[in-house]
Amino acid sequence: MAQIKELAELLKRINRGEVDKEEVRQVLGTIDPVELSLAEQRLIEEGTPPEELRGLCAAHIEALSDELERIKVATQPGHPIHTLISEHEEILNFLTQLEEVTARLMALYAYDSGNKDFERLKYLATELVEAEKHHAREEDVLFPELEKRGITGPPRIMRLEHDALRAKKKHLLELAEKASSLDYAEFKRELKETADYIIFNLREHIFKENTILYPAALKAIPEKEVWERLKEEADAIGYCCFTPGYLAGARKEAEEGRIRVIRLEDLPITTSPRGPKIRRVLEEPSVAVTNVLLEPDQELPAHETPVDVFFYVQAGRGTVSIGGASAAVEAGDLIFSPKNIPHGLKAASGSAFSVLVVKTPNPAGQH
Ligand SMILES: [Fe+2]
Ligand SMILES: [Fe+2]
Repeated sequence: MAQIKELAELLKRINRGEVDKEEVRQVLGTIDPVELSLAEQRLIEEGTPPEELRGLCAAHIEALSDELERIKVATQPGHPIHTLISEHEEILNFLTQLEEVTARLMALYAYDSGNKDFERLKYLATELVEAEKHHAREEDVLFPELEKRGITGPPRIMRLEHDALRAKKKHLLELAEKASSLDYAEFKRELKETADYIIFNLREHIFKENTILYPAALKAIPEKEVWERLKEEADAIGYCCFTPGYLAGARKEAEEGRIRVIRLEDLPITTSPRGPKIRRVLEEPSVAVTNVLLEPDQELPAHETPVDVFFYVQAGRGTVSIGGASAAVEAGDLIFSPKNIPHGLKAASGSAFSVLVVKTPNPAGQH
């Protein structure tokens, strides 16, 4: 209660323009982001107009993003929450692409079988429908455990949102599949409505889970053994084809005498925060493997990695730089790059450049 009063005071001062961003951040730094979310909710329920919370919200979002980074680092790859957060990153990537493809299709006046965007739309809708296993792990593994511990409100809302989104995603896929047979104006109208709904609401949904539900779950479930049991239940449901660390179950399968063969070409391509296209191949605590795909002349700028890395050139030609030196390399070459020395990659002119980047151990959780 005292905290809500304090927050209300802060809000008034923000509205009068008396508090600068740095001060807001300092004050928020002392408040638990999850409790702040609950307090904000209370302020709205008590009659504070949501627009008055806007000043606070911007700083709050910043604090919550820091919290998300902290959680990702605090949980190891393979932890159910770590996997869910990583899947969210992929889903957000699909939503960005869906936004771009939809905008381009809206600018057309007729169906065009030669336009690749119709195929892309089908691919993106399929991936979004594929996310069902992600939602099933939330609904059948995480939520029941939270409900058992008295956290019932957020899971109930999340389930309702899953249902609404599930129907819209299915509709998007149907639209993508019959684009050629529909009246194009009709197709555009339905596409716009469906895609806009999914893009807006799924982003919101993911934001709430990342910043409220998952942090609350980590707090409410402190026992390591319980997370181990939840992971087994999650493994039994399975993963999506875009789950980073797709091969996370590969260790278990190999131990049980089964071998999973993954063809790089079958893995989904996403865009890394550094720019180039990538495929996430494997994530285990001991190792992380990423396939970096550079277009001719494209560059992965020099950066440092806190663990040892080796590069295996899978296809094409290019340059590897480590420290001040650089070397021309081609398919079949392997280069070792010790930790904490800046390294970069560049594709040769006229040649795509595909490199397997192997980090050992996996730097996630070591920042
Ligand atoms: Fe969800
Ligand atoms: Fe989710």
